[in-house]
Amino acid sequence: MYTVFVYIIMKSEIEQFLIEKIKKDGVIPFSSFMNITLFHENYGYYNTSNIFGDKGDFITSPITSSLFGESMANEFINLSSNKNNLNILEMGGGDGSLAVSMMKYLSKLNCLPNTYIILESSAKLKEQQIKIFKKEVPELFNLFVWIKDLNIDNFEGLVVANEFFDVNPTERFKIKNNNFEKLFINFNDDDFEYVWNESDDILEKNLDIALNKKEIKLPDNYMSEINTVYSDWISKLDKSIKSGVIFVIDYGYNSEEYFASERSDGTLVCIHNHQSNFNPLANIGKQDISSFVNFSHLSNLAIKNNFLVDGYLSQSSFLLNLGILDIYENKEYDVNQKLIELNKLKNILLPNTMGEIFKVLILKKNITKKLVSTKEFNKIEKL
Ligand SMILES: C[S@@+](CC[C@H](N)C(=O)[O-])C[C@H]1O[C@@H](n2cnc3c(N)ncnc32)[C@H](O)[C@@H]1O
Repeated sequence: MYTVFVYIIMKSEIEQFLIEKIKKDGVIPFSSFMNITLFHENYGYYNTSNIFGDKGDFITSPITSSLFGESMANEFINLSSNKNNLNILEMGGGDGSLAVSMMKYLSKLNCLPNTYIILESSAKLKEQQIKIFKKEVPELFNLFVWIKDLNIDNFEGLVVANEFFDVNPTERFKIKNNNFEKLFINFNDDDFEYVWNESDDILEKNLDIALNKKEIKLPDNYMSEINTVYSDWISKLDKSIKSGVIFVIDYGYNSEEYFASERSDGTLVCIHNHQSNFNPLANIGKQDISSFVNFSHLSNLAIKNNFLVDGYLSQSSFLLNLGILDIYENKEYDVNQKLIELNKLKNILLPNTMGEIFKVLILKKNITKKLVSTKEFNKIEKL
């Protein structure tokens, strides 16, 4: 009786939920653990925490500067010159900053989308988005539509996924005596712990797709990530899109860099109070967990699903192509504001900040128009 009492007091609700699940189902794959800790509808990090901004855990490019969204809106304008009534789909709306900057800019230039659809699983973030849209763009509020699952009929337009794929629950694998092992999570005595079991066909099939016949020799005990959820998203995008362009923007690598021998602990990173750590079993439900995006994997899946891969660029090259410097120069700032905006611009553009570590994969389907975002500096051959 006493031990049960202590156990309930010491463990948070999300930990109790995980313990019950492990008791019932046995050890759970790392991806299930990540899915629950981030997205459980009552206790998950994305439904309970203050995530974005100075008072939250981290800041993304659209929160840093409105120039980020405004630049991307230029591609929407380019696509709209061929066809009216296009839409925008944002995968993972965050605090709503990206939508606000794109919609304000497009409204000024008289090129609004038919609808701005937000794929959002977090009820808390949806509330936050509604609040910011009512405050910042009340006259455009009726253009916003929220969806919880990606299942749209005949979408035509621009899809943007900024820092969406890195929080997709990933699997972790290890090489042991020339075999693959897959990571599971157990609860033993009083702690969550790692358990390495035999891997499975889905994990190995996804690795094959990511490597696409490239020979990569991984040494014993090498650990990394492979995301088996990517394929569901790419196939849902294929089913939803009649014609359009997709921007996948995230920190990540091609497969060679991803599985480089020196990266032998993988790419998983956790963030709590603007500090990173590498222990997903710490601060359960109170920290972000993400893994770097494998752009070769996404691109190989896209090719199998009726998409054309149009570009692979650094964030900095992508934004320069989209005219970010002109947008900055043409704004009417006072001297002080101009300096503040310049510093924000540097944060999203320069190589030592977000400009190089963030990459952009650009996919298209049934689009003949030449894209602005890929006009120069394209490194597509690196995928
Ligand atoms: C790291 S945030 C990025 C937010 C925003 N794009 C930005 O750049 O500021 C990830 C976003 O994706 C949403 N998200 C993650 N997985 C999702 C899923 N499976 N379905 C819908 N939304 C999801 C989160 O709730 C959150 O809004």
